[in-house]
Amino acid sequence: MKKISRRDFLAASGMMAGAAMLPGGVASAADKKKDDRVVLSGKAGPTLRFRADGKFKILQLTDTHYISSKPELSDPMIDDIRRYIEIEKPDLIIHTGDIIYTDYDIPSFEKILKPIAEAGIPFFITWGNHDHDFSPEMQKRVEKEPMNEGFPVPGLPGLSNFALPILPSAGGNKPAAMVYSFDSLDVAANSYKFDPQFSAERPEIPGSAWITREQIHWYEAVSEQTTRENGGVPVPSYSFFHIALPEFSEAYDYRWTRIIGEHYESSGRAQLNSGLYVSMLDHKDMVGVFCGHDHDINMIMDYKHGIKLVYGQVTGRSGAYCHLPESYGCRVIELTEGEREFDTWIRLYNGDTEYRVNSGKMVTDTHSGR
Ligand SMILES: [Fe+2]
Ligand SMILES: [Fe+2]
Repeated sequence: MKKISRRDFLAASGMMAGAAMLPGGVASAADKKKDDRVVLSGKAGPTLRFRADGKFKILQLTDTHYISSKPELSDPMIDDIRRYIEIEKPDLIIHTGDIIYTDYDIPSFEKILKPIAEAGIPFFITWGNHDHDFSPEMQKRVEKEPMNEGFPVPGLPGLSNFALPILPSAGGNKPAAMVYSFDSLDVAANSYKFDPQFSAERPEIPGSAWITREQIHWYEAVSEQTTRENGGVPVPSYSFFHIALPEFSEAYDYRWTRIIGEHYESSGRAQLNSGLYVSMLDHKDMVGVFCGHDHDINMIMDYKHGIKLVYGQVTGRSGAYCHLPESYGCRVIELTEGEREFDTWIRLYNGDTEYRVNSGKMVTDTHSGR
C-alpha cells in the first residue's frame, strides 16, 4: 500500500491553506504568497489577547441539557449563566457541549445561546454527544453571532475543530498561548438520526466515540507550525472538548495522581485510545485538557506526565444525569501570560467558589467520591 505522508494527507483533506492564514485564520497579503500553512480555523473570529495585566480568564460552561418540557428546572440556568459572566467577567466563554437534552429542537438551544451571545464576550461551543443530531443546524446559527469564535476547519470529522491564538498583551500577532477545540463526536449507540460525520471511526463499537487520527494529525500540524514560528519554543496550549480521554480514567486510578475535586461516577470516556494524549506529550505544548460529559465529576488531576486533566463543573440544573444535589455552576480558568501553570476554581450557582488552586501547586490529594 502506498504510504501517505502527513503533508499529502493534509493537502488532500483541505487542511493546508488554499487561502493561507495568520493565527486566528486571518489572511494576510504576505501569507498569500505561501501555500503550505495549516488552517487554524474556518474563519476569523474576534481577536483574543492577554489583558494589560497579563491575565486571560476563561469561563467554562458545560452540560446545560436544556429540557423544554421542564422549563421550571431549565430556565433558571439562563439567569445562572448571566450571573457567572457578570461575576467573573471572562475574556472567553467556552461551552463544552451537551447544550440540549433529548428534545432535539433549536428553540431549546436558543435559550442557552442567548445569555452567552448577548454578553458581548468572545465565545465558542465545542459540541457534545447530545448536540450532534442537530449540531449542523446549530453551528450555522451560532456562526451568525458576532462574538462567536467557533468556525470549523473544513475536512475534519465532526464540526468543532479549530485553534485560536491568544495574542500578547503588549501587541503583535505572535501567539502567547493557544486554545484548541476538538469535536469529540458522538456516542455510537445513542444517535437519533445517525450521521457518519459525527460517529466514531468504528460505529459498531458501543459507547463513547474518540477523537480521530485525522483530528490528531491536524493538531500536530498546527502545533508544529506554531512552535516553529515561535523560534522552536512550544507555545502554552489548552484543549477543550466534550468527552474525556481514556487517560482521565487512568489518571484517577493511578495512585500518585494529585486530585482536587469530586468523583461520583465512572467516566463515560472515549472507548478507545486514539493517541491524542501521547501526541500532546510529544509536542510539549499542552498545559491542560478540559472536558465535560461526566456530570458527577469536577476534578482537576495532576497526572504524572505534567499535563493537567480537568473536568468542568456541570452547569445544568435540569436534573439530567446529575446525582449531586445543588452542585451546578461553571469552571473558571485564569491564564497568566508567559507561564505554563494556571489558576482555576469552580463558581457555584449560589455565588460560592470551591476547589480554587494553582495548577503548579497541587501538593495534596483532596478529592472526595468513589
Ligand atoms: Fe451531558
Ligand atoms: Fe455528554
